Amino acid sequence: MPDQSQPILSVKNMSVQFPTLSGVVTAVKNVSFTVGREKVGIIGESGSGKSTTGRAIMRLQPATAKMVADEIRFEDIDLMRASEADMRSIRGRRISMILQDPKYSLNPVMTVGEQIAETVILHERVGRREARARTLAMLERVNIRDPERVFDLYPHEVSGGMGQRIMISMMLISSPSLIIADEPTSALDVTVRQQVLSILDDLITERNIGLVFISHDLNLVKSFCDRVIIMYAGRIVEELEAAKLEEATHPYTRGLLQALPSLDHPRDRLEVLRRDPSWAEA
Ligand SMILES: Nc1ncnc2c1ncn2[C@@H]1O[C@H](COP(=O)(O)OP(=O)(O)O)[C@@H](O)[C@H]1O
Ligand SMILES: [Mg+2]
Repeated sequence: MPDQSQPILSVKNMSVQFPTLSGVVTAVKNVSFTVGREKVGIIGESGSGKSTTGRAIMRLQPATAKMVADEIRFEDIDLMRASEADMRSIRGRRISMILQDPKYSLNPVMTVGEQIAETVILHERVGRREARARTLAMLERVNIRDPERVFDLYPHEVSGGMGQRIMISMMLISSPSLIIADEPTSALDVTVRQQVLSILDDLITERNIGLVFISHDLNLVKSFCDRVIIMYAGRIVEELEAAKLEEATHPYTRGLLQALPSLDHPRDRLEVLRRDPSWAEA
């Protein structure tokens, strides 16, 4: 039984670089953070290094990428030192990833039920009948009312919201202790988004797991997460409890907050963020 008071994930001084035709891009610069049994949002504009951070934790980088870190400790494992075989058994089983578009994560030629059942068989070594029963129960858990019918659908036959609920079932059925969700609801419309988030929230709380929630939507992260990490140009510029976001001091975070439309302070147009080159420096 892992120590419940210890963070699930602890990242120390992680950097990721990509060689490109126009030179080396440092996508992530010296980031350090921890994730406990809580929902941690990573927020920042496009290109700020959020997805690279998420993938680096899973060690899912292109072979040409250069990644360094003093430590990436997940539970009792130093992921920087884990073998590729160890990483394969950790991915999907102990750390799961939910991406924006389930179509990229699901196999198009297999029914969604078969895919979830395969995951159960692979990770739990149970028989087909048991795997099917577990899959149907999990589909019901994500509020799919007719799991028997949905079991036999192919990924292209399901709507965006249902696809994301299916992804959540697939990613949670192996009981991971950490989930990295990269813009999981960005492709969904607002009402469906709320349903998907509330299912994710229930499962995370009920199973006491950690969530890294990557988003460019500050309003969403503010209401959904416990803690918020703000990234700018590959760095973490600020880290705050979501409830204390209004107390942010970094000018970039302040700019993001001021750019949010608010019912109390309606404005005619959104403010354009002013940037300072010093934010991107060491
Ligand atoms: N495979 C890659 N090769 C080269 N550059 C990359 C690669 N992946 C990401 N980058 C660059 O790294 C930076 C951060 O990207 P990313 O992590 O995707 O940002 P975000 O998710 O915040 O939008 C960007 O400048 C992006 O162009
Ligand atoms: Mg991204």
